[in-house]
Amino acid sequence: MAIHRETGLPFTAEKSRQIYERTLGVLIEGSSSSSRGPANFGKYPIFMDRAAGSRIYDVDGNEYIDWMMAFGALPLGHAHPEVVEAITQAATSGAHFATATPVELEVAEMIQKIVPNAERVRFANTGTEAMMAAIRLARGVTGRPKILKFEGHYHGWHDDLLVSSNVLPAAALGLRSDPVKIPDSSGLNRTALDDTIVVPWNDLPALQHALENHPGQIAAIITEGVMANMGVIPPADGYLQGLQKLARANGIIFILDETVTGFRIAPGGCQEHYQLSPDLVTFGKALGSGLPVAALVGRAAIMDALQWGGVLHYGTHNGSRIGMFAARANLRVLTRDHNASFRHSWKISEKLCSGLRQLLQKKGRAAIVQNVGPMLQIMFTDRPAIRDYRDFCQHVDRAAFQKFVLSLFPFGVYASPSAALHSIVTLAHSDEDVELTLEAAGKALDAAA
Ligand SMILES: Cc1ncc(COP(=O)(O)O)c(C=O)c1O
Repeated sequence: MAIHRETGLPFTAEKSRQIYERTLGVLIEGSSSSSRGPANFGKYPIFMDRAAGSRIYDVDGNEYIDWMMAFGALPLGHAHPEVVEAITQAATSGAHFATATPVELEVAEMIQKIVPNAERVRFANTGTEAMMAAIRLARGVTGRPKILKFEGHYHGWHDDLLVSSNVLPAAALGLRSDPVKIPDSSGLNRTALDDTIVVPWNDLPALQHALENHPGQIAAIITEGVMANMGVIPPADGYLQGLQKLARANGIIFILDETVTGFRIAPGGCQEHYQLSPDLVTFGKALGSGLPVAALVGRAAIMDALQWGGVLHYGTHNGSRIGMFAARANLRVLTRDHNASFRHSWKISEKLCSGLRQLLQKKGRAAIVQNVGPMLQIMFTDRPAIRDYRDFCQHVDRAAFQKFVLSLFPFGVYASPSAALHSIVTLAHSDEDVELTLEAAGKALDAAA
């Protein structure tokens, strides 16, 4: 029986179980997104009540060190005082007007200063929405119908890109030279998928081959900078630069999806870290520090097509005043003291990753830890590295990972139990959090064995 770290009492999630039972009469899978329900969280999810800094507390009073951090939406951790103050200020003076507001300009200018290609900025609410606008813009500006995405990359839940981003048995994927396009959902507009080309990632010859097969038809190549929806898979050396070169040479718009990596890997995201020059970039998650704020940024020559009469992009809640207040406070804290928050999260992440690697070795478990800065994932595999979607589907034991993470909960550590997601280090995490997590991880590995 696991003993709760703070109270010294046996761990129980009984209240969560009772609430879950009650939700079944009204909510689907107990929550508002399938990724939060039993598919990932076992019999029932833990219902959370409140949070502060690196800690989150459930309805039974259990305290956890939170490494999920709202799927990356909280780069400063929970309830950072400056974000709380900003949100309070906006709430008491008008949360949203759906008019032009000066704070929108301030946040846009801050982004312009931080993000290399942000000649123009347009706000949205979610990564999905920003990506929808980016695709429409690319099609509008080029007059071309097709878009190219990569196997295992997730860019939101809209129809155009909801293909080959779920984990599947390796035998379903077809040949690397001609991947089978696998819709991720029922109810998709199949004709939308006709115009979506799917290519293996980290493979420049495969990309070149696809471009040669569709001359003059591809509006955009869309990629994550770090593959963040199959654990954490870094780009191979020179891969993103090669992709950019091929896009340019073929008159194709290069869309970099920084929904996960933005304001996380570096102030200017993967664009800065890998020295890229994309045409359009989408941001979400970390931008609003817990509020739904997303942005599409890019070159003026392309972005200006969003003007009235060109490519349409609307949204009642775009650039909400309360979201902009949160984003402004967030960006101020993130970039303070010459971007000290980024140095902090990289340092804590290195400590956590090396501690986990040592622990897994000591326990004799076939597992690796892959990370890029503050994004990390444990992968139960006998391979020395996981390099792409096919590797992940074939060689990663997702059930073992889920069992391990669910075994962490009673020892006071919270993370996403989905092997395809990852953990996030924030400004709020400390050396002590790492030490307690490593101790808990040792116990959870024994419990899950
Ligand atoms: C790389 C990437 N792009 C886009 C999205 C969609 O963002 P949102 O969930 O805010 O719609 C996600 C969400 O996880 C993502 O990981």
